[in-house]
Amino acid sequence: MAITLSAIFALSILVAVLLLNQLFGLQARSLIDQRSSFFMDAMLAVREYTSKDVNPIVAPLNEGAGAFRPESVPSYSAQTVFSYLKAKPEYREYSYREAALNPTNLRDKADSFETGVIERFRNEPSLTTLAGEKNTPLGPMHFVARPIKITKESCLVCHSTPARAPASQLLTYGDSSGFGWKLNEIVGAQIVTVPQKAVFEAKDRSLFTTALLFVIAFVAVGLITNSVLNQLILRPMREISRKAEEASVTPATVSFDERSRSDEIGLLARSFERMKQSLAISMQMLKDRQGRP
Ligand code: HEC
Repeated sequence: MAITLSAIFALSILVAVLLLNQLFGLQARSLIDQRSSFFMDAMLAVREYTSKDVNPIVAPLNEGAGAFRPESVPSYSAQTVFSYLKAKPEYREYSYREAALNPTNLRDKADSFETGVIERFRNEPSLTTLAGEKNTPLGPMHFVARPIKITKESCLVCHSTPARAPASQLLTYGDSSGFGWKLNEIVGAQIVTVPQKAVFEAKDRSLFTTALLFVIAFVAVGLITNSVLNQLILRPMREISRKAEEASVTPATVSFDERSRSDEIGLLARSFERMKQSLAISMQMLKDRQGRP
């Protein structure tokens, strides 16, 4: 019986752990998704703050002959804010890019992966986000990308021809890159990457702890069940069976004391007691008959 119970317990634990692995996996995925959406939204908010609040103040400075003030450019502020965030060790593996095929700042030149993402957005204009896994030197990362589309004519002041751009911009960035953008063209993509290894490792640790707790709980339940069964049923059964055997030979010397119990063992003991008495009577009658001449 112990083996059957152990097999049932082991199978239950296995099924429970497999189901929990699925559940924890989904939770880990959703945590990663949540982190990347929050990250992307925060960067979009920085961009918005720059175009709404900072640009109107700084833009006039760029009209003059001095050096260009990139603080007026949303792309610059988002990437700068992110660089401060990345200085903290816990964000070292995160990345934020505003990659363009033909960028103003060569730092933003799309690499081969980013070029693939931007081409995808250019070929499928209805696509608003792209998410997936990306292999990096630091291991596989989760990425989310959004297209950067030129929706305002005002962008073209600085991104169409060097002649239209402020002189200060040309002084800082030159005139060979970041021009020729068209209205409604997808020129690049915002791409956030979020590490997933730590989240999956935490998931595996939780799964291991839960499985261990299951095993401990099942073993405890098994041991307690075993001892209770032994105490309440198995031991009295063995005792009744031993007495029944004895009663088959010498019924008079045996007493089924368990008959005072109110459970099934008591019922069994009462039946055996009655059988023992019948047996004793039959044996007596047999003896009497044999004694007669
Ligand atoms: C005043 C000139 C100016 C205007 C207006 C402007 N940009 Fe830019 N943009 C720049 C400069 C300069 C950079 C490079 C900033 C840096 O050093 O990070 C840049 C960078 C970018 C980048 C990052 C890729 C790259 O080229 O380095 C994107 C994307 C971008 N701009 C999109 C836009 C969009 C969309 C608009 C309109 C909403 C716009 N820009 C309006 C000057 C401008």
